[in-house]
Amino acid sequence: MAVKDIMDALREASVDNTKLTELIKDIKLIGSSLEVVYRLPKKELEEEIRRKTYQALENLPDVKNVNIRFVEGVPEVPPAFGQPAFTRRRVEGVKHLIAVGSGKGGVGKSTVAANLAVALSKLGYQVGLLDADIYGPSIPTLFGVKGERVHVDERNRLIPIEKYGIKILSIGFLLPSEDTPVIWRGPMLMKALTQFLFDVNWGNLDYLVLDLPPGTGDVQLTLAQNVDMTGAIVVTTPQDVALADVKKATAMFKEVNVPVLGVIENMAYFICPESGNKYYVFGKGKVLEFVRAYQLQVLGSIPMDPQVAETSDTGMPITLTNPESEVSKAFYAIAKLVSERILRR
Ligand SMILES: Nc1ncnc2c1ncn2[C@@H]1O[C@H](COP(=O)(O)OP(=O)(O)OP(=O)(O)O)[C@@H](O)[C@H]1O
Ligand SMILES: [Mg+2]
Repeated sequence: MAVKDIMDALREASVDNTKLTELIKDIKLIGSSLEVVYRLPKKELEEEIRRKTYQALENLPDVKNVNIRFVEGVPEVPPAFGQPAFTRRRVEGVKHLIAVGSGKGGVGKSTVAANLAVALSKLGYQVGLLDADIYGPSIPTLFGVKGERVHVDERNRLIPIEKYGIKILSIGFLLPSEDTPVIWRGPMLMKALTQFLFDVNWGNLDYLVLDLPPGTGDVQLTLAQNVDMTGAIVVTTPQDVALADVKKATAMFKEVNVPVLGVIENMAYFICPESGNKYYVFGKGKVLEFVRAYQLQVLGSIPMDPQVAETSDTGMPITLTNPESEVSKAFYAIAKLVSERILRR
């Protein structure tokens, strides 16, 4: 027996054209005892609400005691269609916050976030990079700042580490050692993440790039709902397995009204170093099909290049070590496109 079953039962009953569930302010099930607190729109409805609640729960033998309480007040007005039901907080000093996400793990989010940050910075912007992947932070490795420690300023705000002109912050800087598992859950996790965004001395940034963890769980949703973002960039590889999850991520952003700035197709093809021929290892056209169906745009396609992984391990993104490579050119083009697109809005 779960609260959900009770809600399902109560949804069937209504008073004064209002479903009982719409009047619930609080509901708690402890063992077989249920406590429901209703908002009471009109005093004279009290008896009817009681009666209908008992009736609705009659077929749920696991609920033995029902305690009904009322608080006065009209039901909250649901938000108008398309309007977020929450207020989003701005990150102080940050003009544009861009989240890099994907429903799928291992498609290259961190690689994209890192190289996009570098490319934007090379275009002359002030750039920050936040590693929001608190379970598997990889930004410190990509920038060769693993093991660094952060300090706080006079206002008790975290001071990001600066590398290659980019202000970087990662949970990795706060963990005692690389092997320390992060076991934060729920509210504690959210508190840590919020602190990582808001209690930071970012200075003045044109762009703050957010490297999201894989998936569409609580972390992604909470961030998307509570933070004022300019938009999200979705990273995918041209495989069906990746696209299936990427579609979920896209739907999540849409649902919480975070504009999707576009899609980056990573590992799109491989250029044979000998022949110069392009090979579409994972197939061709799948990403285009997806963006059309979702009315999105491809921001760019990044080829597969062993150098990407090599440079990652040396702590310098490929956009710095080899700016003339196909991969780097693609990232620079994407950075230009993203900044132009944001400026035009
Ligand atoms: N275009 C590319 N060419 C070759 N290797 C790549 C490319 N993009 C990413 N990689 C490699 O693929 C691996 C996964 O990339 P990355 O860590 O950026 O993915 P991620 O989506 O952030 O993963 P996670 O879901 O674990 O956070 C890394 O080893 C990276 O170096
Ligand atoms: Mg990552």
